[in-house]
Formats: sequence, C-alpha cells, structure tokens
Amino acid sequence: MAATLLPLLLFLAAAAANPAPASACFSSIFSFGDSISDTGNYLISCGATPDPVGQSPYGQTFFHRPTGRCSDGRLIVDFLAQALGLPLVPPYLSGETSPEGANFAVAGCTALDNDFFRSLGLEISWRNYSLGVQMEWFQQLLPSIFSSSSECRNLMADSLFLVGEIGGNDYCHSLLQGRAVEEVKAFVPDVISAISSAITELIRLGARTLVVPGGVTFGCLPILLDHFRSKDAGDYEPETGCLKFLNRFSEHHNELLLRELNQIRQANPDATIIYADYYNAMVAIYRNPRRYGFSRSPLVACCGGGGQYNFNASALCGDEAVTACRDPAEHISWDGMHFTEAGYRAVTSELLGRWTEPSLAQICPQIDANFLQGIHASIFKSLGHE
Ligand SMILES: *[C@@H]1O[C@H](CO)[C@@H](O)[C@H](O)[C@H]1NC(C)=O
Ligand SMILES: *[C@@H]1O[C@H](CO)[C@@H](O)[C@H](O)[C@H]1NC(C)=O
Repeated sequence: MAATLLPLLLFLAAAAANPAPASACFSSIFSFGDSISDTGNYLISCGATPDPVGQSPYGQTFFHRPTGRCSDGRLIVDFLAQALGLPLVPPYLSGETSPEGANFAVAGCTALDNDFFRSLGLEISWRNYSLGVQMEWFQQLLPSIFSSSSECRNLMADSLFLVGEIGGNDYCHSLLQGRAVEEVKAFVPDVISAISSAITELIRLGARTLVVPGGVTFGCLPILLDHFRSKDAGDYEPETGCLKFLNRFSEHHNELLLRELNQIRQANPDATIIYADYYNAMVAIYRNPRRYGFSRSPLVACCGGGGQYNFNASALCGDEAVTACRDPAEHISWDGMHFTEAGYRAVTSELLGRWTEPSLAQICPQIDANFLQGIHASIFKSLGHE
C-alpha cells in the first residue's frame, strides 16, 4: 500500500506544481520596439486603411487570423511570455492593457524621431511612432493602471522590460532609399543614444530587469538580399550566403550598443540589464538550419511574390495574388522581412539557451523548462538543460 501511495503522492505534488503557475519571476512584461515585437499596434494604427499585414495568410499558423503580428504566428515576445507563465502581451493601442503588461512596439518604427530623418532629406512614409513616442505612451499608461505611486514602483521592480529590437528600421529605411553605408553608419551613435535614453528613463521610473536585444542579421533578410544583389561571390558569407556588408553593419551596431549597456550597468548597479544577442542566436540557426527543422533554403521567404529569395517588392505577402509556402515551419523567413513562427521559436530557444548575458534562464530558473523542451527538445538538451 505504502509502496504505491508514495509515487501517487509524488505524482499529485508534481501535477499541482506543473500547471504553469503565474510567473514566479516577473509579474508583467512591458515591451518596446518594431515589427519584430509588434503584437498589433501598427495594424490598429492603420484604422480602416487596408494593409497587407491585416490580410491572410498572416497569423495562419497559430492564431488562424491576422492579428497584426508580422508573421504566421507567435513572436519572440510571445514565446518569452509563455515561457515565463504570463499572458501574451496585448498591444497598447488595443486599450486592453493591464498590470500584467503592455506592448508598445510598432511595426516600421524607428529609434530616432521622424524629424531626424526628415532633416536628412529622407521620405518619411512610415508612421510617427519612434521609441520616444512609445516612451510617452508608457508614461501616459502608468497612472491609469496603478492607483498609487508605491504600487507603481513595486510593479516596475517586478516587471520584465523588453527594450527592442529597435534601430533596424532607422538603417533599413535609409539604405533602401539609397543612402550610402558610411552615411548610415554615421548615425549609429544617435540610435544607440536613443535606446540608452529609454533604458535610463525606465530605470529612473523603477525598472529593475531589462532585456535589451541587439540588431538582427540584416545580411540574411530576403528583402535586403534582393535589393543589394551582387554578382561578386566575395560579397557573400560562404557559410550562410548572407551579405557580408550588412551583417558587419549589425555587428557594428551591436558593438556600440554593448559598450553603452556596460556604461549604464556601471551607473545603475541595482538594475539587471540583460543583453539578448539576437544576431548570434540567428547566425547559429543560419549556419545549421536543418538542426532546427528548416529543410528549405534558409534565405528564401515562405510567403512572397517570386524571385531568387521569394521577395518581390511589387508583390508582397498579404497581397491578393501572393500565396504562402506549403509548410511555414520549413522556412526561417516568413515574408522576406520577418521570421516565421518556427523561426522565432528557434531564436527564443537559442536565446534562453545561451545568447542572453547575463543569462535570463539563470536569473529566472522557473522559466518553464517543459515549455522549452516542447519547443525544441533536442536543442534544449544539447545546451545542457535537462
Ligand atoms: C511626431 O512625434 C513627436 C514626438 O511625440 C512630436 O514631437 C512631433 O510633433 C510628431 N510629428 C508629427 C508630424 O506628428
Ligand atoms: C514581381 O511581381 C510583379 C507584379 O506581380 C511581377 O510582374 C514580376 O514578374 C514579379 N517578379 C518576379 C521575379 O517574380
């Protein structure tokens, strides 16, 4: 009797502990950035104006409808929320924000204000939602979700802040409008300074744990591979087929960002600033795509209007005549600019495995290991987590 009772009790205890408890680590997530983390703000901001992102097949894999996410399903911020046992983070403009979090990220958004690009003579076709504007939204939201300032400070301290990825559009808008790399490189310090101001302001308001992603592998994005096609094989990385000059650009941005983060860390020893190395997490996947289930050429988009990389600026995913591939999980790139859900899932497991510094998985050991194993059992195991 006792021999059978003990395993049963252990089983019951494990079952009680298992159904993802509200995160023991963070009470909420607040997120800032661009299309990589936008869970719906851009689409809401379009109002009645139709936009490809609001059309099928966007959202087809997980939500089974377009949600405004620039993917077929969940994004890194969604996987993080789930791994932490928190609800998906609602977009600020939906008005459905709560003390459990809000997402201020807007697709197309830049780190620098539109006036900066106007002063460079660039055509401003994107919306006026810079990182500065997102910070204004955040400050406006705070008093409405907290009755007292002490409640607010407690929540700030218990929350996880995801600040980025941001800056990618500052560079891409400019490069795609024909600006020389050297000219664009010259304002990397301004972008870093905008990110730095947002982080410092959040810490001043009481934030204690911030995740700051670096720039992505620009050189591997079908939209840029298509635009900057070269006949010189030497322009491409032999291992991945990505464009060297664009990946060097990301590395430059990330170097300056890291240097800045170290200064902020020194000035704010009470805050934990976690660098999320999106770039190296992605490089790991591009170097070994099959290991993550990406059986199709990793540089070819799933949903696009033709061409070598299946990216065609005059026939975008979401346009009526454009269809998605048979199985998005075989592709890293969804629409030539953003990852598939499977792509973001692989990046998240890489991030939680080895590409956050200091390690988010060590800071929050309660990160749902079952959830992670579910998303990438073999990778998670090989990274030394059981
Ligand atoms: C854009 O946003 C900034 C910051 O909120 C504001 O100062 C500026 O007036 C806005 N510009 C336009 C054209 O709406
Ligand atoms: C890109 O789309 C346009 C418009 O649908 C089409 O005419 C053109 O052939 C496409 N280009 C490629 C390379 O498929």
